Amino acid sequence: MTKLCVALTEKTTDELLAAMHALDRRVDLVEVRLDCMAAYDLRRICSGKDRPIIVTNRPVRQGGLFSGSERRRVAALAKAAALGADHVDVELDAVHLLGQLPAGCARIVSHHDVEGTPDDLESLFRRIRAAGADVTKIVTTARDVADVGPVLALLQRHAARTPLIALSMGEEGLASRVLAAKFGAYLTFASRTSGRESAPGQVPYGQMLDLYRLDRIGADTAVYGVVANPVAHSMSPTVQNAAFAAAGLDAVYLPFKVRNPATFLEAFEPYDLRGLSVTLPHKEAMLPLMDELDELAAGIGAVNTVAIRDGRCYGYNTDVGAAVKAITGAARRAGLLPLARRTVLIVGAGGAARAIAYGLRDTAGRVVIANRTVARAEALARELGLEACGLDDMPACKPDVLVNTTSVGMWPRVEESLVPTSMLRRGMVVFDAVYNPLRTRLLREAEEAGGVTASGLEWFVNQAVAQFELWTGQDARREVLENVVRSRLAGG
Ligand code: ATR
Repeated sequence: MTKLCVALTEKTTDELLAAMHALDRRVDLVEVRLDCMAAYDLRRICSGKDRPIIVTNRPVRQGGLFSGSERRRVAALAKAAALGADHVDVELDAVHLLGQLPAGCARIVSHHDVEGTPDDLESLFRRIRAAGADVTKIVTTARDVADVGPVLALLQRHAARTPLIALSMGEEGLASRVLAAKFGAYLTFASRTSGRESAPGQVPYGQMLDLYRLDRIGADTAVYGVVANPVAHSMSPTVQNAAFAAAGLDAVYLPFKVRNPATFLEAFEPYDLRGLSVTLPHKEAMLPLMDELDELAAGIGAVNTVAIRDGRCYGYNTDVGAAVKAITGAARRAGLLPLARRTVLIVGAGGAARAIAYGLRDTAGRVVIANRTVARAEALARELGLEACGLDDMPACKPDVLVNTTSVGMWPRVEESLVPTSMLRRGMVVFDAVYNPLRTRLLREAEEAGGVTASGLEWFVNQAVAQFELWTGQDARREVLENVVRSRLAGG
């Protein structure tokens, strides 16, 4: 099973040992980065360790901090080995400087490319093996998420028979760190906490264990993820991994920072990719890459969900149905159903407005799109056969249902709202696509006026539930997903 190794970058021996002793027992081993230490006592480190260690003294040319002589650098590794280090990590171009190691100390021979991904990983692998490696380690830098493909291929070819560490650094390389466990890598690295990374792209070990459930990932684990750019703030990994865990499914959900959906799909499809959430800015670009589209995705021209079955990509749109469900739920509570004789006012004319307008145009009596830039509202209204107006003309619409799709009111500018309180009435339905905060100024004022409200949280959870169900064919435990979102929003 792939071991989890936490790389420690503490400055002193005392700090290092204290940090090591405080690690969760599920951390299998620790990498001691001598090059990050101001001073160290190898004897104390080796006698004070509470689990196996790798001793590393990385030079600047391979992404480390050591800038002294090669002989001194490698001599520290030899000394660590003599004192009882379980592994030492020596670079391929310095392996000749390291003599015989005592029995019980494994030689990791490594190569780090801090610029990109070498063309021929296979020949690099062979050269490292030939240099007398007990464990072969190849680390590349992912300039694009697709660069992870060759690294996974290398693991797939060799990791079952040869102790092999192969991963891609950088945010784009994250999948290689987690999927290392799927392909049986010797180990994968994590940081102790966020901000203490010894290499770009490392994630805290707590996330590796609790979010990605690393210790449960194996050869059969199905791979899912969100395709976005940027992706770092997406809540989907937290939500969908919790949903998979609650359902007891052998699956992992990753954030994919994607620039080009076509090259991404090509790179990851061979590795048990089963489903994707698609978000900004790729919902339109994903569409022509699908083998089949559901009617809604084709109609609106945007795919936010991909299911991959037997090598075929099926594109769906769960955004529209999820928003309509949140809005009609509130309308039911307000006694406004059916919507056939109601007026819906949609504020904003971007992608969110488009999804909601599309979803309501056939059920609502009248749909008006109001936007700061009136021309944008008019263009969208024309396309969908609806009405348009400027923000000043909103009160004249006398809406029964009011929908904010703009980012106005979102944290940190929580005191903003585009809707004058004079427009808010008893019995009116007000939906705000913003979910951070959960209760925007608009929703607060709507409730104070006696309106019935729904927040962007409902929309988000509805679409996450729909995605999970499309992928797995199982009912999602809605309360699990909702609780995860709530605790994420509360800063948990
Ligand atoms: P999305 O695809 O998430 O809906 P978008 O395409 O960026 O996002 O659209 C954002 C919407 O919020 C637009 O309708 C925008 O109005 P403009 O078209 O006039 O830019 C609206 N919006 C954003 N900030 C706004 C503000 N401060 N006041 C009024 N409208 C605003």
